[in-house]
Order: sequence, then C-alpha cells, then structure tokens
Amino acid sequence: MAKLTRRRLLCATAPLAAAPLGVKLALGGQAEAAGHDHEAHRATAGHVETAASGHAAMIGEGAPAVGGPNDLDALLYPPDPRPHRPGRVREYTLVAHDVELEIAPGVFFPAWTYNGTVPGPVIRATEDDLLRVRFVNAGAHPHTIHFHGIHPTNMDGVFEIVGPGDELTYEFPARPAGFHVYHCHATPLKKHIHKGLYGAFVIDPKEPREPARELVMVMNGYDTDGDGENNFYTVNGRTFYYARYPIRARKGELVRIYLANLTEFDLINSFHLHADFFRYQPTGTGEHWEYTDTVMQCQGQRGVLELRFAHAGTFMFHAHQSEFTELGWMGYFRVEE
Ligand code: CU
Ligand code: CU
Repeated sequence: MAKLTRRRLLCATAPLAAAPLGVKLALGGQAEAAGHDHEAHRATAGHVETAASGHAAMIGEGAPAVGGPNDLDALLYPPDPRPHRPGRVREYTLVAHDVELEIAPGVFFPAWTYNGTVPGPVIRATEDDLLRVRFVNAGAHPHTIHFHGIHPTNMDGVFEIVGPGDELTYEFPARPAGFHVYHCHATPLKKHIHKGLYGAFVIDPKEPREPARELVMVMNGYDTDGDGENNFYTVNGRTFYYARYPIRARKGELVRIYLANLTEFDLINSFHLHADFFRYQPTGTGEHWEYTDTVMQCQGQRGVLELRFAHAGTFMFHAHQSEFTELGWMGYFRVEE
C-alpha cells in the first residue's frame, strides 16, 4: 500500500476541495513533504477565505469525516452510572487487536487497539465496586493495561507483560472517584500509546453527580508516516467527526463532558468551547472547579467539564492549537431550544 499522507487525504477528499479545511489538509501534506516546515506551508497557502467558505463549509456533508452518524456512540456516550453499593463486581473484557482504521477519508492507520477502536471502550464503575477486567492479547505484540487510580503493584500493568495469545485479569476496588484513563504500559511506551492502546475510565463518586447529558471525549493524534510527529488530530478517533455529525444538546440542560488527553509527541492538547463558559474539575475529583472556556491537558491529564448552554444554536469546539483544529480536532454542538 502506498504511503499514507495528508496529501492522500486531499486526494481522497477531492470533491471537498472547495472546502477550505480540505485545502488546509492538503497544505499539511506539503508541510510533510517539506519536513514539517509549517511556515513553508503557510507561505504556499494560496487560498482566500471568503464569506461563503471558512467554517461554514465545514459542517455536515462538508466535513471530511469517515462513517455514519452513530459509529462513535459507544465512545461518546458512557455507560449509565450506578448507585454506590460496596462489593458489587463490574466486569469488562478488553481484547487487544491490530486493526487498520480509517481515521480520515482515505487515510488508514495501522492501529493497536483495545476492542477494535481508538480510543478503547469507556470503562465505568462506582467507587468501591470491585473492577474485574479480563485482558486478552490477540495482537502481535506484548501489551498490558495500566489503569490510573489506586491499586496493588501486581494490578498496575507495568511488570506483568501479557504476550500475544496470553491473557490476564486485573481486579481491584475502583478508587478514587474521578475521571481517569487507562493505557498500555509495555515498552517502548510511546509506541504502544501512539498506536492507540488507551481509553477513558470513569469512577463515579458515592454521592452521585447530578443527572446530565454525559459525553466522553478522548483527544489524540496519529503519526501516519512514522516520523514521530502527528499528522492528524481527533477526539474519539476520527477527524472532524463531530463537524460531520454535530453533538446534540438542549439549551439549559446540564451537559457533562469527561475530557482526557492521550496525544503522543505533542506536549499538550486543549479544548476550547465557543460562545459559552463551563466549569472544569481537574481529574474529576476534589473541590476545585475552574470557570473558563479553554482548558489544556498534557498526556494523561483529564477532567470533568459541566455547563448549561445559554443559547440555542450551533457552537464550535476545538483544540486551541490552531494547527490541531485544522488537522481534524474540531466539532460542533447543535443546541436546541
Ligand atoms: Cu502495548
Ligand atoms: Cu498513564
């Protein structure tokens, strides 16, 4: 198969070439050919923003995203919370598979996955549940699962490496309450993470959070040419997916977003919401909330966002690293009255 590049994304999205973002993605291809000289690709931009183009052309059909409207529902909508009941067992099975994923139109990434998706499935438990995760390695490389949280050393996914064809069951009480992540901890670590072995891990507090429209967003990047720099950025694994299929919400209802960053290579990632403010609780725990419209996270950081949209309408959200935005990390909320 030919080397997959940002340039090929443009080829694959040729009918969308009129859309400025398609053009910018193409320019990313030039940047790559020029050894990631970002100034150079800006200099060769050669397109003019007009009132009729810009972001308006990047909603719905105009957005270069792969798949149907419900493809990512299992990653966006977490399992329902359950009331606190000490000793309950919550069981999950995660299987490592090597899968070629189409992350942008015509762009395939040879991923290492938990259960076939990047990110992997959302794991949810309530504080004091006994979490039991059976891990089966059906991939071609040794892997583990390292959970963030509090647990014994032999459940930490660092020393007990699970070879291809082997399996291991992780079992520990879920704590502390908050929003966490899990990821492979085999070496070389950066490879095992950037290939896609990570996911979101919600531990509900004993005192339940207020009912809300709950969403999970895992920010990531893909290095599709193996040069140690990301060529695409997403939330929940596919470029521009929530521009193609905006996330629905109602004005005034409580919206809660579990946001995590598993981007490799780039030092930080960020989330910016347009036209409204949210409160942000780092790691989803403790008393501290920040009131803002932009948060940044390094790899492994995560937190809980809560807001009630003040207005109906279509509102953008995206990384506030503009380059990440234009390489796939952008979406919309469609807020109804
Ligand atoms: Cu691994
Ligand atoms: Cu970690």
